[in-house]
Amino acid sequence: MPETQHSCQVIENRKVGSVYYRLAFDAPVLAGAAQPGQFVHIRVSEGLEPLFRRPFSIYRAQDGRVEIFYEPVGKGSRLLVQKKKGDLLNVLGPLGRSFTPPGKDVRQIVFIGGGIGVAPFMLFSDRIKTHQAGKILLYGGRSKAHTFAMTEFRRNGVRPLIATDDGSVGVKGRVSELFSQIEISPETMIYTCGPRPMMAAVAAFAKANSLRGEASMEEVMACGLGACLGCSIPTSRGYRTVCHDGPVFPLEELVF
Ligand SMILES: Cc1cc2nc3c(=O)[nH]c(=O)nc-3n(C[C@H](O)[C@H](O)[C@H](O)COP(=O)(O)OP(=O)(O)OC[C@H]3O[C@@H](n4cnc5c(N)ncnc54)[C@H](O)[C@@H]3O)c2cc1C
Ligand code: FES
Repeated sequence: MPETQHSCQVIENRKVGSVYYRLAFDAPVLAGAAQPGQFVHIRVSEGLEPLFRRPFSIYRAQDGRVEIFYEPVGKGSRLLVQKKKGDLLNVLGPLGRSFTPPGKDVRQIVFIGGGIGVAPFMLFSDRIKTHQAGKILLYGGRSKAHTFAMTEFRRNGVRPLIATDDGSVGVKGRVSELFSQIEISPETMIYTCGPRPMMAAVAAFAKANSLRGEASMEEVMACGLGACLGCSIPTSRGYRTVCHDGPVFPLEELVF
């Protein structure tokens, strides 16, 4: 489906835990078309400030509604916190290249997420619920406040394992402390999203062990449509735009 601009009514916008928010909006066409790893580009203000839309992964897409899971970090995302039920949101999407669904040969599916980078894996786990592979989520957060209830992942048959910088929940340290849970096998498939250093560590681990994988990259965006080249990143195939050629790339193509 070509990307489309939608005027969507907010259904709910609530705080989850002490840091993150979940915003749901009514968008039947978008919900029907969305694929895991794709994102929506949201105009967060009616005025000129901020001028550019803000990109958010599609966290859930079902029953005619789309949800995003977000952390207010700056001007744009803080404006989003103010949206209330019934407000209209101008949304462009679904945008970008999605994750490649795991083939029948895959025996272990490994999601590796850092902080808010876990967002695209909820929709992904919704969509591959019936896949026979064992599914784990290796999740890294700063502290307990930066993690969230893993119930929904468990419901989707995903076993979460957590690492926090301060050890307030799960293993103390980086998410790489959990890499020992990954089966070194050609039948393993890794999907990662999160801070750049974390994804660089995942890419190095995958390369050293000849594992297959994909990463969803983040870059500050303007047009979101591959036109301004503002979100270009270097890859082994030359510069590529995160918004249009990505955000999902094969791990081995990325240059960290
Ligand atoms: C494909 C994609 C999917 C994303 N999915 C989510 C998501 O599901 N949930 C979520 O909370 N956030 C997500 N982000 C990040 C989100 O877009 C930024 O946090 C948001 O645009 C920041 O806007 P702001 O106006 O609040 O912050 P600003 O005031 O613009 O910036 C605040 C800080 O955030 C940094 N920043 C700004 N934009 C980005 C960006 N795109 N990536 C990384 N750092 C940025 C700035 O450098 C600055 O340090 C995603 C980004 C991309 C590219
Ligand atoms: S934001 Fe314009 S090309 Fe990606």
